Amino acid sequence: MHHNFSIIPGFVVFEGIDGSGTSTQLQRLAQRLLQAQIQHRIDAEPTKGPIGRLIRIALSGELTLHPHTVAHLFAADRNEHVQGKAGIIETCSQGKLVISDRYIFSSLAYQGLTCGPELPGLLNAAFPLPELLFFFSLPAETGMERMKNRSSLEIYEKLDFQQQVAAAYEQVLSEFSASKMRLIQIDASRDMDSISEQIWQETSKICARFTGS
Ligand code: TYD
Repeated sequence: MHHNFSIIPGFVVFEGIDGSGTSTQLQRLAQRLLQAQIQHRIDAEPTKGPIGRLIRIALSGELTLHPHTVAHLFAADRNEHVQGKAGIIETCSQGKLVISDRYIFSSLAYQGLTCGPELPGLLNAAFPLPELLFFFSLPAETGMERMKNRSSLEIYEKLDFQQQVAAAYEQVLSEFSASKMRLIQIDASRDMDSISEQIWQETSKICARFTGS
């Protein structure tokens, strides 16, 4: 893998299998940042933009696309998110913290399984890395259990696939061990309060540069 190891200072990413609790923890972190008066923005991929909306239709199962098409869409959505107007690069360079629910590691893990590693590796090689990456690790069974009350599940939300995603993430993350990105492993089976505390401890370390309004 030949990935660009450059880092965007002030960019933070949450990753993990479906049901690992990233969205809940993102909301909790947002509250803390607000209280601490740290300028920030909470984002997610797929984004709410036009490409992200198209991806959601494919994830729902309503639209069937070739796996390679899906990999391209995720990469195109990401490129807007990173380089587009009011994107991550622009926002972080203005001194704001940007925290994203999912980033390239999702494509490398999920599309690595649906397409094989080559295409997602190529499509994502040029994207800069976050300063801080929180990886929520959780057994796939627990993730599926947490999602059982949802009214509908997306195409990837099946136990055997989620088990493969969990393994794929381990492989993908090991490929970034030589980068300067700080990887924090979260045991996502712990209680929500202690997870929030761990996330806040780590995030506040990089916040000194973002205090004030
Ligand atoms: P997410 O928003 O976390 O799921 P939910 O709707 O349950 O909150 O993510 C949507 C799905 O998209 C999730 O199964 C992971 C998948 N995904 C990829 O396969 N590749 C990617 O590059 C990204 C960003 C997400």
